[in-house]
Formats: sequence, structure tokens, C-alpha cells
Amino acid sequence: VELPRTIADFEARAAEVLDPSAHGYYAGGAADELTLRDNLDAWRRIAILPRVLVDVSERDSGTTVLGRRRPHPIFVAPTAYHGLAHPDGEPATARAATAAGALFCLSSLATAGPAEVAEAAPSGERWLQLYVFRDRGVSDELVRAAVDHGYEALVVTVDLPVLGVRDRDVRSQAVIPDAAAAPSVGATGRTGAFSMLEIGELIDPSLTWADIARLAERSDLPVLVKGVLSPADAQLAAEHGVAGVVVSNHGGRQLDTVPSGAEALPAIADAVGDRIDVLVDGGIRRGTDVLKALALGARAVMVGRPVIWGLAVGGEAGARAVLELLVAEFDVALALAGVPSAAGLGPDCVQIRG
Ligand SMILES: Cc1cc2nc3c(=O)[nH]c(=O)nc-3n(C[C@H](O)[C@H](O)[C@H](O)COP(=O)(O)O)c2cc1C
Repeated sequence: VELPRTIADFEARAAEVLDPSAHGYYAGGAADELTLRDNLDAWRRIAILPRVLVDVSERDSGTTVLGRRRPHPIFVAPTAYHGLAHPDGEPATARAATAAGALFCLSSLATAGPAEVAEAAPSGERWLQLYVFRDRGVSDELVRAAVDHGYEALVVTVDLPVLGVRDRDVRSQAVIPDAAAAPSVGATGRTGAFSMLEIGELIDPSLTWADIARLAERSDLPVLVKGVLSPADAQLAAEHGVAGVVVSNHGGRQLDTVPSGAEALPAIADAVGDRIDVLVDGGIRRGTDVLKALALGARAVMVGRPVIWGLAVGGEAGARAVLELLVAEFDVALALAGVPSAAGLGPDCVQIRG
């Protein structure tokens, strides 16, 4: 089968092949979905200001994150339950990421555990996204598995003390048919069908910076905090032993009408300087979006839904194609912007449209 050429085409095809309630779960955002939409629009409001007559015959998409050189800045965002998109689930996505040279961030709510994913793609770069569950034993076990299986970092998601207003999932009554299919959910003792709306009940809403500092101090792995939009919080992250922040509004799924990552990024990059690494996600759909993110101060981007669309449409090959098309588009964008090395991107490369 021929795979689509663009992420928009993958998205359209995924809508045809996915079960409607699963599709709604993946595609949806919170409440009126204003932030969900703005995540796409915000990148479009930024123009690239190209330079010409620069020798771009040799190009380098590479970036440095957590002190390690990466071939390109396109990372897979943690998204829950890949097994609902395709029977091959996270092992397939992790293999796809590895083939595309993309770091894979495994969700705490995956339909495969950290060990299984590491075994599926042993040579890939991987991080573990951590939810701090009310049942701390479940989170501790995830961290232990991450340490034992070569995960490089913990990405603690801090924008879900409670679940956002997920009207689509209320209407569709989306469920994972069997809680045990998601090992962490199973580990909390849940059995049988598990509603997409119940996840909030499993997560500890009392988490504070003191917990983050403790985790960062005790953990053998660097800790990133995901879901920061305020420069003040980015400063606090730097002061609490955190190695990086992911500027994110959770793909528009949590608090509606917050800023997009694209809007929040410049002030955060400014606030933390080189003290910690800044990543951004939300609405990255083209190589030009990746270029804009790096120009505004991110060291890498994370991509959520597009990878799921790829997985749904073509399993491992589909997810890989999505990542590879972004990598190829980013390379073209660098050449046409007259910036042969990703490390040379800066605010001069972009202008915000009036
Ligand atoms: C279906 C779905 C499930 C998600 N699950 C998680 C999760 O388990 N943990 C997490 O930190 N973020 C989760 N996110 C948020 C993503 O990590 C990321 O912030 C977001 O998808 C980026 O926006 P994009 O989808 O426009 O690329 C999820 C997003 C989606 C769409």
C-alpha cells in the first residue's frame, strides 16, 4: 500500500481506519478545543525570514539535548495507549522512531511496559514519561524499569493534576476494553473496561516542586518537567534540579484557552537561558514548524498525534514514514532559510506576523 505524503493526509486516512471513539480520544482536546486549534495556528502566524546566497551544500540537522548529540530535533511525544491505534502498539512505534533516528518517549499509560519497549528497539534513544500516581508504588516501579532498561531520562508530566474537560470522550464513552492492556493501569488494581475519563482518579493532584526536587535528587536519571507554560515555572524548574522543560499544553487536552507552545516558548527560553534544556510540543506538523521552534529557543520538538496517525495507517512503517517526512522537510527548510546548521537558528530567522 502506498503511504500518504503529508501529515495532513495521514490524519485524514487515520480518521477512516480508526474506531470512532478511539479516533475522538486521539484527535480531541479539552472543552471548546480553542487551544487545540490554536496549537496549529500559532506556528502558522510565524513567518520564516530566509537568507540567500548562503552555501547550503552541506547541512546539519543535529541538536544537543541533555548533553548528548542527536541527529535531528524531532522526538516522539509520550501518548497513551498505542495499542488502540494498531495491534503492534508501542513496540512498533519505538522501532519506527529508532529507524528514523528519533528519540522515543514512552507514556506512563502505554499499552506496553518499559522493558517490552526497550527489548523491541534496543538501539533506540528512549525516555520515560512519568505520571505520579496516587499509588506511588506504581510510579516507583516504572522508574525502576526505566533505570534497568536504558531509559535516559524521566519526563514528569505536571499539567494533569486532574483531567481536563474531555467532552468528546464523555459523549463517545471511550474506553480501553481491558485495563490490564495498559500495565500501569493494571498495576493500580483496575480490571475490566477502563474509561478514558477515569485516569484523573489515578494521578496524585497534590504534587509540588518539593516532590520534583526530591525525585531529581534521588533519581539516577535526569528529570525533565513537561507541561510548563509560564516563565516563572521554568525558572522554578531550573531552581529545583530539573534538567529540562517541555513547553506544552498537552496537545490542547487539559486547560482550554492557555497559550500555545509556540506563543509561550520565547519568554521561557529567555527566562532560563542555557541553564536547562527547553523543548516544545503542540501542533508540529511540518518541517517549517520545527525550524520555527528551534529559532525561538527550543533544542528539540516533540510530536504527538502525527505519530499515532502514522501508526494507525501503516503500523511501524506508517509511524516511521511520518517521522521521516518531518526530518526531510526540516532539512529542506534549513536549506531554503539559508541556515545550513540547525545550531545556527535564532530569533533573526523568524518574524511574528502582525
Ligand atoms: C492521545 C493522546 C494521549 C496523550 N497521552 C499523554 C500521556 O500519556 N502523557 C503525557 O505526558 N502526554 C500525553 N499527551 C500529550 C502529548 O505528549 C503532547 O504534549 C501532545 O500530543 C503534543 O501535541 P500534538 O499532538 O499536537 O503533537 C497525549 C496526547 C494525545 C493526543
